[in-house]
Amino acid sequence: MATVTFDKATRIYPGSTKPAVDALEIDIADGEFLVLVGPSGCGKSTSLRMLAGLEDVNGGAIRIGDRDVTHLPPKDRDIAMVFQNYALYPHMSVADNMGFALKIAGVNKAEIRQKVEEAAKILDLTEYLDRKPKALSGGQRQRVAMGRAIVREPQVFLMDEPLSNLDAKLRVSTRTQIASLQRRLGITTVYVTHDQVEALTMGDRVAVLKDGLLQQVDTPRNMYDKPANLFVAGFIGSPAMNLVEVPIADGGVKFGNSVVPVERDALSAATDKTVTVGVRPEHFDVTTDSDTGLAVTVNVVEELGSDAFVYGTAQVGSETKDLVVRVGGRDVPEKGSTLHVVPRGGETHVFSTSTGARLSD
Ligand SMILES: Nc1ncnc2c1ncn2[C@@H]1O[C@H](COP(=O)(O)OP(=O)(O)OP(=O)(O)O)[C@@H](O)[C@H]1O
Ligand SMILES: [Mg+2]
Repeated sequence: MATVTFDKATRIYPGSTKPAVDALEIDIADGEFLVLVGPSGCGKSTSLRMLAGLEDVNGGAIRIGDRDVTHLPPKDRDIAMVFQNYALYPHMSVADNMGFALKIAGVNKAEIRQKVEEAAKILDLTEYLDRKPKALSGGQRQRVAMGRAIVREPQVFLMDEPLSNLDAKLRVSTRTQIASLQRRLGITTVYVTHDQVEALTMGDRVAVLKDGLLQQVDTPRNMYDKPANLFVAGFIGSPAMNLVEVPIADGGVKFGNSVVPVERDALSAATDKTVTVGVRPEHFDVTTDSDTGLAVTVNVVEELGSDAFVYGTAQVGSETKDLVVRVGGRDVPEKGSTLHVVPRGGETHVFSTSTGARLSD
């Protein structure tokens, strides 16, 4: 087992001037499950491939444990990678697919068989060992790809969107299996996804990337409760956090007819006349008093049984803003009606409108 360190690791592809990954700095603990997440093209796969040795590192360093692996070939890094297209060998049985890397490494047959059987047991694949991949379901094939990584007993697992070929339901059950398997094996894992729900549910910590730049590394809880900037605030959480540019008022910010108190420090740090306030859909209080808060016209209601999301519009200053408000499943407003909402005290996030940086604690 081992720690993994990205020490200002940079990748500039030939012919490009802008780094695809720019001075990435993350310290991953021994046994940790770290998820890299961000929109398409933000540099997730490039970061993982640098760690795997499949991509040159043009600046900074990468360490596994205290070994500097920056310029080591992939085979000397003691890692195993699971890709999105896990490409099993179609003519080989499941057992041979799983044991292939060991065979290449010259491990004897009996030992290979033992390791494959152990991995198959963990992955619930024992009864499929003699089948060919084409006779397996998508989820089972995905587990074979995991098995191929497990039998090698690497110091680090790398996974690049391993679930994206699975249908939605299977993806949810498989992500739980992978997360619990990783915890059982205790092998340091770096996992790439563009799906923020997957990131939050699987990771011990989550690293958000945008345009090759690390935005925040944090536990899922902190990422949700204290996003470091407007980008993370809008990216993490579903439905997304409401972000509204509002004027600064005496003692707080003006939110429709109400002044919502926010931390004094946050406002004194603001350099503009406005700040951007973030409110999660579940952090609005709905009032019947039409003189308070912000009037939201209800456009669509999404009922989920236990609760419901109200998609509406509100007039904020001279702008019409789309807002999402979570309400109780038994208090669902009529389409076309008007709700008055006030952000709950202590549940607002204040960001600089111009820089996007978080101003509140
Ligand atoms: N071999 C390459 N040569 C040149 N540019 C590349 C190469 N591979 C990736 N890039 C560029 O580097 C940036 C990061 O790509 P990367 O594949 O790391 O993104 P990603 O976050 O994994 O995206 P996705 O979610 O779509 O898989 C992109 O702008 C991409 O176009
Ligand atoms: Mg990718």
